[in-house]
Amino acid sequence: MKIAEFKIEEWMNKYSASAKYDLTTTCISPLCINDLNYSKDIFNIKLGYGDIEGSLRLKTAIKSLYENQSTDNITITHGAIGANQLVFLSILGQGDEVISIVPTYQQHYSIPEALGCEVKLYFLKEENQWLPDLEELKKLINKKTKLICLNNPNNPTGAVIPDWMLEEIVKIAENNNAWILSDEVYRGLNLDGNPYSKSIADMYEKGISVGSMSKTYSLPGLRVGWVVAKPELIKEVNHQRQYNTISISLLDDYFAAAALENKERIANRNFSILHKNLDILKNWLDKNPQFNCVLPSGGTTVLLRYNSNLSSVDYCKNLQKTTGVALLPGKTFEMEGYVRLGFCAENLQTALDKISEHQEICS
Ligand SMILES: Cc1ncc(COP(=O)(O)O)c(C=O)c1O
Repeated sequence: MKIAEFKIEEWMNKYSASAKYDLTTTCISPLCINDLNYSKDIFNIKLGYGDIEGSLRLKTAIKSLYENQSTDNITITHGAIGANQLVFLSILGQGDEVISIVPTYQQHYSIPEALGCEVKLYFLKEENQWLPDLEELKKLINKKTKLICLNNPNNPTGAVIPDWMLEEIVKIAENNNAWILSDEVYRGLNLDGNPYSKSIADMYEKGISVGSMSKTYSLPGLRVGWVVAKPELIKEVNHQRQYNTISISLLDDYFAAAALENKERIANRNFSILHKNLDILKNWLDKNPQFNCVLPSGGTTVLLRYNSNLSSVDYCKNLQKTTGVALLPGKTFEMEGYVRLGFCAENLQTALDKISEHQEICS
């Protein structure tokens, strides 16, 4: 399968590791094994393939993140990246119509395109607080639409689709018998009210939820993700999965379950980082009116509108060269004129000060 260059991943591989202040990150300071509860038995576990489709312990822990799911509705994957890919392979084929709500993680349009689908990009707008316009969505969808892809909370905008709006999106999909794939890797990180939005899997018979340990639970190094959907779809995903996964690492499975069983502790720690950093970001925006952004309702990133004639790629290259601060150019998200800023980053204040100094020199 020929597929487009994955622009964000290419950029991050090239620029993030060498950055002095990495604001391309989307992960809240990753945890270590010593932060998790484990027993010494782990050293005596035989490292076989383990439970092929994921352990019952892990599936039970994942089930607790949903309202009405059973462990038969869950399969374990190699990160959310593996989960998304398996879902696309399971339901799409040449000529199928797909609506992808952008900006989003590039998998959600480049894989369907590579599979020969007709992909319609629906662009979110800043003036709508990066939330979908339901009337526009109704105009795009038709009886041939097989799948709507969304990412909620959204990377890169930090927007969270309110539950009432999700209900409306479900009605639109239902009227056209379309699946909805909701990439929910940032679910559990709503900054106001209940941290968990409703999951699409709990709202719609053809709703598919993808989640993972990487963002909300600060364990991207475990490479554990999942798909939650009705059993018929899970069966199809497992069929595809046999060809590319066998099982995930037994150790990853063990530590993911241990982390989810203590998710409140991780949430407390992560929200204290996020709220502190959000205050830093708000103060900085107040003092730096050359930059604008819709404040995030969830997740770990915002789309920042910068004030310069440079393209987003040149702006980021120039910024990193002169200050050591790495941002992600909007170009990598099909959003020229913006940059993505991971406000979950550890040295946010210093990095933002550097961006201000750079702005002064440039203007
Ligand atoms: C929206 C979204 N989906 C999926 C992924 C991949 O996550 P994972 O580390 O679980 O594979 C990312 C990673 O940045 C993401 O932002």
